[in-house]
Amino acid sequence: MTSIDREFIDSLPKAELHLHIEGTLEPELKLELARRNGVDIGQSTVDEVRETYAFTDLTSFLAVYYPAMEVLVTEQDFHDLAMDYLRRAAADGVVRAEIFFDPQAHTSRGVSFRTVIDGLWSAVQEASSLGVDAALIMCFLRDHSAVSAKETLESSLPFRDRIVGVGLDSDERGNPPEKFAEVFAAAKEAGYRLTMHCDIDQEQAITNIETVLHSIGVERIDHGTNILENPALVDEAKQRGIGFTCCPLSNSFVTEEMKGAEITTLLREGLKVSIASDDPAYFGGYVGDNIAALADAQNLTREDVVQLARNSLEISWADDERTEVWLRQLEELVSGGGIITT
Ligand code: ADE
Ligand code: ZN
Repeated sequence: MTSIDREFIDSLPKAELHLHIEGTLEPELKLELARRNGVDIGQSTVDEVRETYAFTDLTSFLAVYYPAMEVLVTEQDFHDLAMDYLRRAAADGVVRAEIFFDPQAHTSRGVSFRTVIDGLWSAVQEASSLGVDAALIMCFLRDHSAVSAKETLESSLPFRDRIVGVGLDSDERGNPPEKFAEVFAAAKEAGYRLTMHCDIDQEQAITNIETVLHSIGVERIDHGTNILENPALVDEAKQRGIGFTCCPLSNSFVTEEMKGAEITTLLREGLKVSIASDDPAYFGGYVGDNIAALADAQNLTREDVVQLARNSLEISWADDERTEVWLRQLEELVSGGGIITT
């Protein structure tokens, strides 16, 4: 058991870079939105909603996750969802939040792209009052067609200045990265930054990681710890400063374990590993809980935890000046507060 206390973890300025806004739908808000929008979800108490949050792998998780979104209908709903998350993030010391959203999960059920982006964008603007610099990353659903991803990219272009980058999520099985090579190239051309999920222990995981690094040209990989299967790719990712956004609590729900040893190995080998919460309403904790769980399981030192925070700031897509300020704050906290005692 580590001696790292929660107060220490929360005190560190950090960036959260792997957070699906739809995955922050807590049962309380789900019930409120269902009432507000007159949607019959089949449950009427928090416990009943929680009981539906049962899954053993990525596919069974996604089968619960998408239907739950039916309560998200209006611009106000998306705003409220994002504000609830941002308040929790601020309490965990998050100074920069790069928030994934899945337009196709909403446009496919008749909610317009504008409704989604207007609601999220007003929350992004309001986030500064909480001390959080927020940004939006649009994810394509990899189990939908490449044509649908292309159409989604087109829909996003009028809102180009509200979206910092694009990602790829949903079910990796049978949906390798090369299916989206063209749309990612077009997104890059339009000025978007690039990241992609390489989920844990997927079939062809290492092949997909290689494709993402060599053919897609991402700056970050979401999850991605299977890279350890190929030491040459580990070296390459280190040389290139590729960011990794790892989610221990999520891993322990959709695989056998949190992959703490793998995350710690990559961190201590000097790769740019950061910790995030993925879908915190479903996986039992926000970013501070994820760092604490990893620290406990792996007996992390305070230096390790500081390095995770430092990495998260370094690999974020925030303005350089802001990043420098946060990094300076982190270093001052570490040196001034005498908090490294190991
Ligand atoms: N969408 C939301 N969470 C996801 C995850 N962990 N992997 C892939 N797609 C997701
Ligand atoms: Zn994810």
